[in-house]
Amino acid sequence: MIEKRMNEIIEILNKANYEYNTLDAPTITDQEYDNYLRELIKLEEKHPELKRSDSPTVRVGGEIVEGFRKITHEIPMLSLSNVFNESEIISFDERIRKEVLNPEYTCELKIDGLSVSLLYKNGKLVQGATRGDGVTGEDITHNVRTIKNIPLTLPEPLDIEIRGEIYMPKDSFQSLNEERERNGMDLFANPRNAAAGSVRQLDSKVAASRNLSSFLYHLPEAEKFSLHSHYETLEFMKRLGFSVNPNIRKICHLHELLEFIQVWTEKRHELPYEIDGIVIKLDNLDDQKKLGYTAKYPRWATAYKFPAAEVYTKLKDIHFSVGRTGQVTPNAILEPVMLAGSTISKTTLHNEEYVTLRDIRIGDVVAIKKAGDVIPEVVRVLTERRIGDEIPFQMIQECPICGSPLVRAEKEAAYYCKNVHCDAKKIESLIHYASRDAMNIDGFGDSIVEDFYNMNYLKKFSDFYSLFQSKEELMELEGFGSKSIQNLLDGIENSKNNSLERLLFALGIRHVGKKTAKVLASYFKTMDCLQKATFDELIAVKDVGDIIAKSIVSYFQNEENHRVIDELRLVGVNMSFLSKQVEVNDEFFNKTFVLTGSLESITREAAKEKIELLGGKTSSTVSSKTDVVVVGSKPGSKYEKAQELGITIWTESEFISKIEK
Ligand code: IVH
Repeated sequence: MIEKRMNEIIEILNKANYEYNTLDAPTITDQEYDNYLRELIKLEEKHPELKRSDSPTVRVGGEIVEGFRKITHEIPMLSLSNVFNESEIISFDERIRKEVLNPEYTCELKIDGLSVSLLYKNGKLVQGATRGDGVTGEDITHNVRTIKNIPLTLPEPLDIEIRGEIYMPKDSFQSLNEERERNGMDLFANPRNAAAGSVRQLDSKVAASRNLSSFLYHLPEAEKFSLHSHYETLEFMKRLGFSVNPNIRKICHLHELLEFIQVWTEKRHELPYEIDGIVIKLDNLDDQKKLGYTAKYPRWATAYKFPAAEVYTKLKDIHFSVGRTGQVTPNAILEPVMLAGSTISKTTLHNEEYVTLRDIRIGDVVAIKKAGDVIPEVVRVLTERRIGDEIPFQMIQECPICGSPLVRAEKEAAYYCKNVHCDAKKIESLIHYASRDAMNIDGFGDSIVEDFYNMNYLKKFSDFYSLFQSKEELMELEGFGSKSIQNLLDGIENSKNNSLERLLFALGIRHVGKKTAKVLASYFKTMDCLQKATFDELIAVKDVGDIIAKSIVSYFQNEENHRVIDELRLVGVNMSFLSKQVEVNDEFFNKTFVLTGSLESITREAAKEKIELLGGKTSSTVSSKTDVVVVGSKPGSKYEKAQELGITIWTESEFISKIEK
């Protein structure tokens, strides 16, 4: 009897909730809703054994977690590539048209919130997770359950993952900040930060009070539900009770997309939530599959980002800094100003030419702009605001740290400090060595490296590996405890096992960036082989040109550099290429390939290596487990067997064009 009444109320509340929060068309009053909710809360208190896990009473919050559990996304949560103007949109469309005849697109608003993955098992919401780094996110289920337009139960008992955006409406953001101001608390810079801060609360009552909302826009496994297009997928999500943004347009011609962009560039301010661009997605799901993914983005979609706002501020001074290569960079010291959610007080002016071309002077009012995720730039001077006492720029002639004369490299705008013993260069190169894309030594931020350098613990790369000898002393330092020092030492120890490309990048060889390091490591396999490579051998490597080859040869001609490497070898730093870096490519990823017949344009070994590099496997026999058979000339029985089993067959040229893609 009681259980029946509770179920009845749950149904009424779920329906009311859906009508109010998703359809924006309530059929009962707030008063009635509250009365039902109160009745249910009372019944649940009296009969806790009857409380359902999907009861709408969880929306008021109450669950408190101790920390955020890590969640692995079985299918990575990718981000979107960006385009900023018409010509980049046209190139995106051209790339698509190479693969797809007459593509259709769906245009959507790009909601400025944070991505979320929702997992339903048997139709019940069992997990909500943040994107994190795309592979590992955080469990925020307790907070997600409080978001009123996220269904706790689906109308069908499906196992399904749905992705979308959690955001804070503009008016909720404003009242939240007003309340925080009244209470003397720090203000949130924008609705996105406020939403992100809210889902990262341990106590779900806080998130429940923040009036968060959601729009869902992606079903990673749409084909499981017999869906054929993105548009259909959105309709399906709506039927399941999710909020799907209504401002969608299906288009066949690029001019319609440009129109859509123009309309929303003007109308975006009228929306009750913030958007930061327009997302363009190839509509047909088979076509999406054909295009596949890069390691970071789907190739079948992109985001047009609205132009960033410009802000004006005073340029108070110009300071010079010295990078690890010795390059001396002028930096603008600014009157602090808010731009796209963060306070800017310093930004690079790149080099002398950048400053003189724009005639940037100390004391000028300058326009600053931030495009996409890049660092803010001084784009121009407001010359009409000059009062006459602005000081014209003058490049310095001596290193601001060690005083040695600066040298301007041929055909380059930059000036360099050539003193190998210059402290600034050494500190920067140590910071670079430990940085995330280089040796990835956890915990070694800029200031720790600088402090350790000044305290003589860290003067050269190999010193990282003897820091453990000073463990006791380091633990005594202010701001460090045994745990933080142990973490640093663990990070150092782990870095010994990095694959060669990290070390090559970490050494800071001029012109050897992350990508070149990877190319070199996978080609030469060991430091020894690379060290012995001649100029001609180097330029024979794909993507290595004259400048890079010259720089590598000259790096290894220097005895001092050999010593640096020998010291690292001695302390146990790995000097070989370890892992094959898998690029996610749908056509190869997790698939089994069989090669048959003789291949003309690629050796069998190279073909196998390429398949593995793209995430596939190779096998020598054709079976029902084979996904693709690549057929060269004069194929044998394997070809026949593949035909018999109905396995996908690629000719050599199809294979080559897919790997080149
Ligand atoms: S699609 C594989 N659609 O923008 C599908 N993303 O800058 C990837 N975003 O990480 C996402 N609105 O958090 C998609 N309508 C929309 C979106 C959207 C906002 C976010 C999302 C993504 C980020 C990329």
